[in-house]
Amino acid sequence: MKKIKISPSILSGDFSQLGKEIKRLEEGGADMIHVDVMDGHFVPNLTIGPPVIKSLRKYTDLIFDVHLMISPVHKYIKDYADAGADIITIHPEATENLKDSINLVKDFNKKIGISLNPDTKIDVIKNFLTDIDLILIMSVHPGFGGQKFIPDVINKIENLKSIKEEKKLNFDIEVDGGINFENSKAVINAGANILVSGTTIFKSNNGNIKKNIDALRLI
Ligand code: DX5
Ligand code: ZN
Repeated sequence: MKKIKISPSILSGDFSQLGKEIKRLEEGGADMIHVDVMDGHFVPNLTIGPPVIKSLRKYTDLIFDVHLMISPVHKYIKDYADAGADIITIHPEATENLKDSINLVKDFNKKIGISLNPDTKIDVIKNFLTDIDLILIMSVHPGFGGQKFIPDVINKIENLKSIKEEKKLNFDIEVDGGINFENSKAVINAGANILVSGTTIFKSNNGNIKKNIDALRLI
């Protein structure tokens, strides 16, 4: 059974001091840092891009788990690889050729993640499961932090877990959106081994990051 990892989303952090926020997350026991990149086109919100990621890189050696909610995505993959992303997660709807985009991320020696929106079926990626390192199951419609968890995704996580076991594959199952102390156990039991959380980690228990990370990891 893989260790449960926590990847806090900086989207819920103070954007005027993201470097310090990343240090706080690391001190609080984060396993990696979830960086939500939004372009105001693929999703109705705009956040940060490669220059900001590049400037944040020096604040930690933790993995930068970069979630690209941008389209088109293929032509920007190099910029995020050069900026210091370690995992580059893309949405299948954002590229004309998923295989080419997967290969491009690997050409930069980065881990490749594919993100499935709540309405996107696992079938969309069934031919690529052996090529990818991580599947990011969205439990909210992407674009904003603080949204309500969509319980239907539990079934999707269970389906993905059984496909993974059946085919003896080793990709990570990461779940992203509305994760809190009430649903984290069900998400882990369904088969997730990485949890993304922004609001719960930054806002619960008077912002006690270590307490919130430990509680999500069910320590
Ligand atoms: C939403 C992002 C999520 C979000 C998670 O589009 O991909 O990573 O920031 O934030 P919470 O945990 O507040 O739902
Ligand atoms: Zn995300």
